[in-house]
Amino acid sequence: MSLTRRQFIWTTAAGWPLLLPRDVALARQADVFRHGVASGDPLADRVILWTRVTVADGVDAAVTEVQWRLASDPGLTQTVARGTVRTSAQRDFTVKVDAAGLQPGRTYYYAFEARGQRSPIGRTKTLPAAADRVRLAVACCANYPAGFFNVYRCLANRADLDAIVHVGDYIYEFENGIFGDGSALLRVPEPRREAVTLADYRVRYATYRTDPDLQEAHRQHPFIAVWDDHEMANDAWAGGAANHNPEQGEGDWAARRAAAYRAYLEWMPVRDPAGSSPRLYRAFRFGGLADLIMLDTRGLRDRQVATDDVAGLASPERTILGASQEQWLFDQLRSSQDAGTAWRLLGQQVMFARVMPAGKPVLITDTWEGYQAARDRVFDYLAADRIRDVAILSGDLHSSWAFDVPRSPWDGYQPSGDGSLAVELMAPAISSPPLFSAPGLRDRVPLLKAVLPHLKFLDGDNRGYVLLDVTASRMLAEWYFVPTVLERSDAESRAAAFVCERGSSRLVTA
Ligand SMILES: [Fe+2]
Repeated sequence: MSLTRRQFIWTTAAGWPLLLPRDVALARQADVFRHGVASGDPLADRVILWTRVTVADGVDAAVTEVQWRLASDPGLTQTVARGTVRTSAQRDFTVKVDAAGLQPGRTYYYAFEARGQRSPIGRTKTLPAAADRVRLAVACCANYPAGFFNVYRCLANRADLDAIVHVGDYIYEFENGIFGDGSALLRVPEPRREAVTLADYRVRYATYRTDPDLQEAHRQHPFIAVWDDHEMANDAWAGGAANHNPEQGEGDWAARRAAAYRAYLEWMPVRDPAGSSPRLYRAFRFGGLADLIMLDTRGLRDRQVATDDVAGLASPERTILGASQEQWLFDQLRSSQDAGTAWRLLGQQVMFARVMPAGKPVLITDTWEGYQAARDRVFDYLAADRIRDVAILSGDLHSSWAFDVPRSPWDGYQPSGDGSLAVELMAPAISSPPLFSAPGLRDRVPLLKAVLPHLKFLDGDNRGYVLLDVTASRMLAEWYFVPTVLERSDAESRAAAFVCERGSSRLVTA
């Protein structure tokens, strides 16, 4: 394909569109748009554009008109789509536009205007109609008081991403000091108390969105996000959460979950689903190369059982997805493979791979390990329908793991990959305290490595992200770590890399 001169000057030597210059945002950053701009949920012909208008005290009841514009150039002179939308206190003055009629696989630029000010200019990209390469960053667990969002800064600095896949814990609901104290870093989140009500969650998102590194990541790349538990409350399930305490005045769980869901939809660049109960599972097709299937393993699950409740852990009725989402997942896998799509990527929250033998107590019950029948149904479906080339993208554990995913690591599986049905790639936290900062856990690593033949990589000391590079013949997964979150930095280093050849369902050191 020949490039016009105008396209050429916006393109790097490797063919990726240049990032927006930093000063465009800084020079134009204004009070009205103090929470930045964002885009997300790209499809081949449309993408969600997001911003928030900050209004002066005393006019909170006002309805504000916001103009938006999307163009093919960073100067916004070649307008492709534009419009006017209204926002108000009813939706916390957030603005969401589903900009349609776009071309597939194209980089676009957008901005908003309201109250006489223009927002920073954002950059986004539609999904390709056909692709020979897709690059995605997988990230999770951004804890504002626990440290600086250097991982978001590193992602903002990459020109070579199609999208950022965020698998949850975009915020934490805790009171400051419970899981990270922001006092020393001047990163105490609002409200200081635990977020419980709609107003609390809104203010918590607003705190996070004042972070310049998070704003910059949103400004440069579309996000494809789904929640984990902390967008609601720790260890959430359909009917409650470990950190939901009605006896302490936190009210009804259904109301809290509804408030958390509403604030999520207001503040995140996700396409609004129909209905009022959580439905965040959805899929994205990157040409014929990859189907990204986003799952919600938190909001619709059964309650966790105790780690030693062996009968409960194996109970056949238990679900982690809920019946509708589970059937939807199987339909997505089937239609993806039938369409000839090379890879099926499951963007979800909690560890899927098996780490304890059946019939034994488990280490953690809030992963798929606590929903063994639900996991078996996925294995059954993959095996019976011969669904291949599945990569499970997980987070939640504040540590980095790479697995082959056999039904049993100890029976019918060889470390050469025979018997593996998928691979799993777990992203470390953006800033939450690493898993091994908890006493005693690091000591278990030699044991874990000895008893888990399917475990290819484990690091519980570092924060970072996973970079996926997908072609029709192989998938490359690279772990990038940042050296610190105690001061702002854009340093990073590559810590590990694995390749999965198509058809193999196994990871090999790259
Ligand atoms: Fe987390």
